[in-house]
Amino acid sequence: MSDLIPQLNDYSEAALDQAFTGLLDEVRRGAATLASPEAVENFRLEWLGRKQGRLKLVSDAWLKTAPVEAKKALGMRFNQLKQEIGAALEGGAAAGSDKKAASLDISLPGIAPRVGVEHPLVKTMQQVVGVFKAMGYSVGTGPEVETDFYNFESLNFPPDHPARDTQDTLVIADQEGKPLRERLLMRTHTSPVQIRTMEKQPPPLRIVIPGKVHRNDAADATHSPVFHQVEGLCVDTNITFSDLKGTLDHAMKALFGSDVKTRFFPSFFPFTEPSADVQISCPFCGQKGCRKCKYSGWIELLGCGMVDPAVFGFVNYDAKKLSGFAFGMGVERIAMMLYGVGDIGQFYSGDMRFLEQFA
Ligand code: DAH
Repeated sequence: MSDLIPQLNDYSEAALDQAFTGLLDEVRRGAATLASPEAVENFRLEWLGRKQGRLKLVSDAWLKTAPVEAKKALGMRFNQLKQEIGAALEGGAAAGSDKKAASLDISLPGIAPRVGVEHPLVKTMQQVVGVFKAMGYSVGTGPEVETDFYNFESLNFPPDHPARDTQDTLVIADQEGKPLRERLLMRTHTSPVQIRTMEKQPPPLRIVIPGKVHRNDAADATHSPVFHQVEGLCVDTNITFSDLKGTLDHAMKALFGSDVKTRFFPSFFPFTEPSADVQISCPFCGQKGCRKCKYSGWIELLGCGMVDPAVFGFVNYDAKKLSGFAFGMGVERIAMMLYGVGDIGQFYSGDMRFLEQFA
């Protein structure tokens, strides 16, 4: 018999009590010394070690050979011993971590939480949206993967119309089996959300739509295949080109300063008639002429026009009673002007030295 466990003479209650009391005392004495992780581990091995642990020895020497009628009394005491060992180990582990807590120096400087800020593009987008919100516009969004119908057909781009070519569309693969209007593509502009909005909502309507758009453009200092636009749509009875001019003139003054002037040039978009490009007087040189305005004093900033009646036809709006205007502008272009950024790629580089300047 190993000296790690006492001799058990018989299985009487008295003999069992004496034997287990001795063991429990040893567990408690051992438990009082568990001040370090090493001591806890040694204690664990001593009692719970798989081959030579004292609990295993007790089990082998006493439990396995006990007569059936003594098994219950033995088992109960055995379980109590096991629990006591478990409790001692838990207490020891806790004491070890208490020691760690006590060695924590609370006078050391803490880890400062870093506060995030809006990305300059998001900030610019919100700024533009904010100008229109203040004029009573609501804000909407739509999907970036669109059907040909929403991106083109319902905006009055007929199939094979050359205006489709100007959009350098990125298409989703394996769509040839579908009818043209159902084929999926990456939206090339936010204008499809005009249609989605009018399908859902009856007039009158005033809404701006910020969002990401995609074109098969090579990246350079002013182009990126992924960029952002803010779309606008206003539909009611008696909306005129004067309303369009007044609204956009106000918006440009709100964004670039009240001394900025606007002018409207004839242009073409399939979904507006008439269509216009809007230029603002160069806010950098006060129209004296500089590199940014190519010495013309004016900078082209957005497209707009009166909603083509054919577009109303696609959404069951009554073109005889209603009129409206729409506009679309590039967020990157505005952000580059507002913050004096020369290379569009900086917005997507993730370079903290660039981004931190907007904090
Ligand atoms: N969707 C046009 C583009 O991406 C921009 C645009 C022009 C939007 C005129 C409009 C608009 O709503 O009326 O080139």
